[in-house]
Formats: sequence, structure tokens, C-alpha cells
Amino acid sequence: MQQLDVILGLQWGDEGKGKIVDFLASQYDIVARFQGGPNAGHTLKFGGNKYILHTVPSGIFREGLINLIGNGVVLDPVVFQRELRALEKSNVQFHRRLLLSRKAHLILPTHRWLDAASEAHKGKLKIGSTLKGIGPTYMDKTGRNGMRIGDIELPIFRDLYEALKTKHMELLRIYPEVDFDLKAEEAAWFESIDTLRSLPLVDGEYYINEAIASGKRVLAEGAQGSMLDIDFGTYPFVTSSNTITAGVCTGLGVAPQRIGRVIGITKAYCTRVGSGPFPTELEDETGERLRTEGQEFGSTTGRPRRCGWIDLPQLRYTILLNGVTELCMTKIDVLNTFGAVAAATRYRYGGGEHSNLPYDLCHTEVEPVLKHYKGWGCSLDGILAFDDLPAEARTFLDDLENYLGIPIRMISTGPEREKLIMK
Ligand code: GDP
Ligand code: IMO
Ligand code: MG
Repeated sequence: MQQLDVILGLQWGDEGKGKIVDFLASQYDIVARFQGGPNAGHTLKFGGNKYILHTVPSGIFREGLINLIGNGVVLDPVVFQRELRALEKSNVQFHRRLLLSRKAHLILPTHRWLDAASEAHKGKLKIGSTLKGIGPTYMDKTGRNGMRIGDIELPIFRDLYEALKTKHMELLRIYPEVDFDLKAEEAAWFESIDTLRSLPLVDGEYYINEAIASGKRVLAEGAQGSMLDIDFGTYPFVTSSNTITAGVCTGLGVAPQRIGRVIGITKAYCTRVGSGPFPTELEDETGERLRTEGQEFGSTTGRPRRCGWIDLPQLRYTILLNGVTELCMTKIDVLNTFGAVAAATRYRYGGGEHSNLPYDLCHTEVEPVLKHYKGWGCSLDGILAFDDLPAEARTFLDDLENYLGIPIRMISTGPEREKLIMK
């Protein structure tokens, strides 16, 4: 049976999905985003340039390749328009090969306003949302109030907008005041809707299934990471979509048996941006050093990312949830200058040691049990074969692979497209 492949993040996001999708895209005909929205920031580096994508799939720079924004995505037309302008500046021809699923939901200006008001209302307990309107938009989707991209083709589009906006204005009365210029935001929003009209709208579920059946090679691109999944992440400090493989089925309209390879991406250490539990977090000089060496600042918000060691119980959990068939490890070069590196192999909680996560990481004191490894203390630049890696790096990778029981097939040694070792 013809199948599609999946790439997703196994941690709390920012694993380097953009770089890997961009690299692998040359082996595919279609790249399709299946969830999330402009909360994502996917960084690509090649030809001496850096590009950050939020909504546009990371296959857009590969000539001729089709990029589909699936129904599971929530799209802010204003952010999207900005991304398209940046692509135009870089001379990327996208008009006939960037497709929008009619059933993807629209982020309205008032969704962003609600996001900000809801976070302000939570005070100290705030999620640390990117404030892009993600939560309120998915709430309207499941609450059966949302607006979808296909609605822009309906004569009642403006009425639908007014009705939803009015509902939002009522809701905003229960929240603290936040600064928001609705008039200006609205004008920009309607202008950007016209940009959407210039792109092909498709019934994504038919499109993707017909493409797979006709032998087209499809890669599904995830956003965020499995620990931010609405069901299985560190709830409530999560995003509002299913970031795991199951989200591919609902976010593109493909059946489970259509899922082929599942490539799970993890950094060689771990980061998180925003609030919520992070068992291996290092709030010391080592954490600071990971942040500096790894340039760990958010691609979407610029916030410093929290840093810590790689967490194997956490990865075993997300490998299980996703049915990962192979691993890709990014940012191993960030550890080049460390005399020693570490990995959490088990968790200590409730008086015992465990390799499973507790029900609620938010309300359980968890202490990671660390295993230390000797560092390699040299640059990995120019290395293109696993066997050419320093022995200490190979030991680290082999040990993680044994522990996780899944082969590490790709090792990324720098942000640039070509810095990738295939094993
Ligand atoms: P994404 O959201 O998963 O696509 O990841 P982001 O783009 O938000 O964050 C990953 C960051 O790490 C970006 O700045 C990338 O350019 C960078 N990056 C990706 N792979 C590597 C790598 O192997 N080494 C280093 N040093 N940086 C990398
Ligand atoms: P990519 O695709 C890292 C985090 C936010 C916040 C929580 C909820 O670049 O890996 P939201 O805006 O969804 O309401 O925020 O999720 N978050 C991300 N963290 N990478 C991302 O995307 C993220 N998208 C959301 O920081 O803690
Ligand atoms: Mg990111």
C-alpha cells in the first residue's frame, strides 16, 4: 500500500524540524503541514541565508515541490501574508505550488486578543503562549463556532466574521483589559484575506489521498513537539492541537494504515520555551552554556529557551505515542566544548525509580537519574560519516540508541542544510 512519511518533534518543540524537512524534501513530491499555526517557527539555513517559516511548510524552497497546508492547521492570514512577502523577496515561486486546505481554520484578530486576555487572566499560572491566537482558534473549532479558509469563497463570509467577532467581544468582557487596536488589526486582516484568494484552495483530504494513490511521495511535517500535545503533553502547559502522529490522520485526512516511516527528531539535549514542567532543566551555568552555545532563543518570540540534558524516559514516552521508526538527532555540535555530557535514564519519584512518566508532571516532584558521558571536545565540522565521529560522540549516540531501541539514522551537526550525517 502507498504510504506517507512523517517528521515530528519528540520534545517540547524547536528540535530542528524545519532544517530536516528542508533537507529531506528533495526526496518527496509534496510536503504537508498537519497541525499548529503561527506559534511554530521553523528555521532553515542554506546558501548563506537564514529563513524562518511559521505557517508555510518547510519544503517551499525546493523547486517544483508542492506544499500543502492541511485542514489541521490554524492560519493567521496576516502572518501568512508576511511570510509570502518574504518568500517573494527571496525570489521563491510559490503561487501554483502552495495549496491551502479549505477545512483549515482561520485565526481572527479577536482570537489573538482573547489569547492575550486569557493569559493575563491566568497571572502566574500562564501557559507562556506565543499569543498567536492558537488556543482560542482551536476552541472555536471544537466548539463548532470556527471559520474556515473555504468560507472566504462563500457570499456570507463577512456575516460569519461579524457573528464570530461579536461573540468574541462578549467573551472579552470577562477578561482583564489588554491593549488591542481592533480597527487596525481588522483592516490588515481583510486585506490579507485577498492574498489567500490568490492561492489554490483544495479539498485537502481528496488531494492528499489521490496524490498518495498515484504514487506521489508525501512528507507530513509536524509543528511543536509531542510533549506539547493537547492529550499527552504536560497538560495544561501544552498547545491546543495533537502534535503526535495521530494528528497526521485528522490533520490531513489520511487513514492510519497510510502512515509509513515516522521520523522522530530530538536535540542532543533538551529545551522548552514557556511555562511548565521540565524534569532535566538546568538552572545553572551548564544550562546557560547550552543556551549560549545552542543559541537557544525562540524563532517566533525571541524568548530565551530553558535548557537541560536529554531526557530518555521522556523520549521513550513520545517514541511510544508516535510509533517512531527512526530517530534524527540534531544540535550534537552544541555539546562540542563540554568536558562531560549527560542523559537522564530514569526518574525518581514516589519513593522509587521509574522509566515511565508519572500521571502529572506538574504535581509530582521528579528527580532525573543522570548518566554521564565523556565529552569529545572537538569540532564536528566536515564530518559526513558516522564512523568519522570522535569515539566519545559515537559512544554517546550508541548508548542512547540502545536505551531507546530505535535506530538514530540522521545526526545533524550544524544549522546549515548540508551539515547532516546519514547512518
Ligand atoms: P523547529 O521549530 O523544530 O523547526 O526548530 P527551530 O528552527 O525553532 O529551532 C532550531 C534551531 O536550531 C534553529 O535556529 C536552527 O537553525 C538550529 N539548528 C538546527 N539543527 C542544528 C544543528 O544540528 N546544530 C546547530 N548548532 N543548530 C541547529
Ligand atoms: P515549533 O514548531 C516551542 C509553546 C509555547 C507555550 C505553549 C503554548 O517551532 O517547534 P501556544 O502559542 O501554542 O498557545 O503556546 O507551547 N510552543 C512552542 N514551543 N516550539 C514551538 O513550535 C511552539 N509552539 C508553541 O511556548 O509554552
Ligand atoms: Mg521552532
